[in-house]
Amino acid sequence: MSRIITMSLFGIVLAGLSVDASAAYDATAGKSLYESSCRACHKRGIFNAPIVGDQAAWAPRIAKGIETLVEHADLGFTGKNGIMPAKGGTSASTVAIGNTTAYMVEQSK
Ligand code: HEC
Repeated sequence: MSRIITMSLFGIVLAGLSVDASAAYDATAGKSLYESSCRACHKRGIFNAPIVGDQAAWAPRIAKGIETLVEHADLGFTGKNGIMPAKGGTSASTVAIGNTTAYMVEQSK
């Protein structure tokens, strides 16, 4: 009986971890890639990119969840605003793109 309870609690802890997936990314580490490769579009909204720091523009994106945003940034994404090129045109790793996406999200909420 207590084993079942322990396992259910473990499940709840795991579920909690997946909700806070942003903790898996290092926003501080993502800043330099943002500055070098994403800022060109995301600072002033070039090509209609959502401006980093514009909370209203980012709220519905953040609502999609960090994993979806990272996937879109990594693989590329075409939405209502236009085209987000895969990896912003860089050859950065998925982890680096994740860190940079976390940085952009952190600056925009
Ligand atoms: C050439 C311009 C350009 C560059 C460079 C660029 N982006 Fe974007 N990005 C866009 C545009 C345009 C959109 C909006 C797409 C839409 O929703 O229609 C976007 C959207 C996004 C989104 C939101 C995706 C979603 O699902 O709402 C993320 C996250 C993102 N970019 C991350 C990055 C990162 C990280 C980099 C740098 C590695 C980067 N972008 C570089 C143009 C750019």
